[in-house]
Amino acid sequence: MERTFAIIKPDAFAAGNAGKILARIYAEGFTVVGLKKLYMSKVEAEGFYYVHKERPFFGELTEFMSSAPCVVMALEAKDAIRKWRDLMGATNPAEAATGTLRKEFGTSIGENATHGSDAPETAAFELGYFFNGLELL
Ligand code: RTP
Ligand code: MG
Repeated sequence: MERTFAIIKPDAFAAGNAGKILARIYAEGFTVVGLKKLYMSKVEAEGFYYVHKERPFFGELTEFMSSAPCVVMALEAKDAIRKWRDLMGATNPAEAATGTLRKEFGTSIGENATHGSDAPETAAFELGYFFNGLELL
């Protein structure tokens, strides 16, 4: 079993799509090990996305992630990291396959409904950034 870190981003949470996304998560066979709503500060968003700090979209990305509440989750499954990224679809909703979350709920490359860790090391960092051990029992 593997754990990954996932976010229902501010656009999807504000649009009332958290329930539908969670239903897809359960339907795909993930175990929801941790789940909470939070309202990230700009500094917290910058810390979370520090790997992108040199990218041209860093300011826009961290503004968006700190613009409204989101839902952060720890998801467990066999091959959870890849499985969750497959369910999310391509970063740009316009390029995401039919049936993926970003295709259904994303509206632009910036407002693309969900986040998922991209490797075991980033999953470990991201899970530890938002959850303490007791929250993941
Ligand atoms: P995420 O980290 O959110 O799961 O998305 P990802 O791996 O598919 O994409 P990544 O390259 O890590 O980019 C992080 C987020 O930055 C925004 N982005 N904007 N304007 C742009 O060209 C651009 N490129 C990326 C997206 O919201 C992406 O999810
Ligand atoms: Mg990424």
